[in-house]
Amino acid sequence: MEIKTVAVLGAGTMGHGIAQVCAQAGYRVYMRDIEQRFIDNGMKGIEKSLSKFVEKGKITEEEKQAILGRITPTLDLEEACKEADVVIEAIIENPEVKKKVFQEIDSIAPPHAILASNTSSISITLLAASTKRPEKVIGLHFFNPPPIMRLIEIIKGEQTSEETFKIAEEFSRSLGKVTVSINEAPGFAVNRILMPALMEAVYALQEGLGTKEDIDTAIKLGLNWPMGPFELMDFIGLDVCLYVANVLYEEFQDSKYRAPYLLKKKVMAGHLGRKTGKGWYDYTKK
Ligand SMILES: NC(=O)c1ccc[n+]([C@@H]2O[C@H](COP(=O)([O-])OP(=O)(O)OC[C@H]3O[C@@H](n4cnc5c(N)ncnc54)[C@H](O)[C@@H]3O)[C@@H](O)[C@H]2O)c1
Repeated sequence: MEIKTVAVLGAGTMGHGIAQVCAQAGYRVYMRDIEQRFIDNGMKGIEKSLSKFVEKGKITEEEKQAILGRITPTLDLEEACKEADVVIEAIIENPEVKKKVFQEIDSIAPPHAILASNTSSISITLLAASTKRPEKVIGLHFFNPPPIMRLIEIIKGEQTSEETFKIAEEFSRSLGKVTVSINEAPGFAVNRILMPALMEAVYALQEGLGTKEDIDTAIKLGLNWPMGPFELMDFIGLDVCLYVANVLYEEFQDSKYRAPYLLKKKVMAGHLGRKTGKGWYDYTKK
């Protein structure tokens, strides 16, 4: 199957990054969100990221303009999906909202189109079940920020066909990414292993083991992580971390996945990390 057009749903942290990656690989991209301000923010993010690539000499100004020219931002779901060969859903992590969106895109996208989700924790099988093409539904789990991070976890749901997997794998590689094949289970591979470590960092802070700065430094220099656990949570979004930890805890009923109250409090306060200007650290002064 020849892929020419990609629809990315959601222009947030992940959606705009995924749209950029697809446009950089030469695809025609529609990026859809539900409000103009989210689209504007997404386009600003893409422009900023591409400008950095120009500054570093990785692409030319002409290439940047050509990449931007391949992206059509839109509020219209029909416009975004009607010619898509691949749809990548990157909207809020809420199963009810995602199920509804999968139902809608199933009725709009061409019959041959693959419907992918970038979900961190929601079952691909569940999303597939709300469509009439469950064999064409798959997980494409990009990492943050998509233009920089090289991995895509490809998640096979219960009914995902081998053909869909092969197309998704080839497509992911055409984006310059390295892929791993994962049979669906909560948290897939990376988050299943990462989340207990992040939760443990918060418990350690709660217990007074050290300051968040010291814990971050310990993990960065002791384990060679590029970011400490608190910096990483701020980068991912504290709401996303809490949501994923809750899904893992609910499924495995194992206390190693249980989210600490301190994290819940941050989320209740709306301190979600970089995207809100405040999380474990304050970004409003920088
Ligand atoms: N943040 C991360 O580090 C990360 C990493 C990998 C995967 N993910 C997953 O990617 C998805 C998006 O996460 P994010 O961090 O980009 O969230 P975000 O909150 O930054 O962005 C979500 C966007 O989706 C939009 N949206 C909501 N409903 C919509 C709809 N019906 N149609 C189109 N857009 C809609 C919102 O307006 C918002 O702009 C989630 O499933 C998340 O689990 C996140």
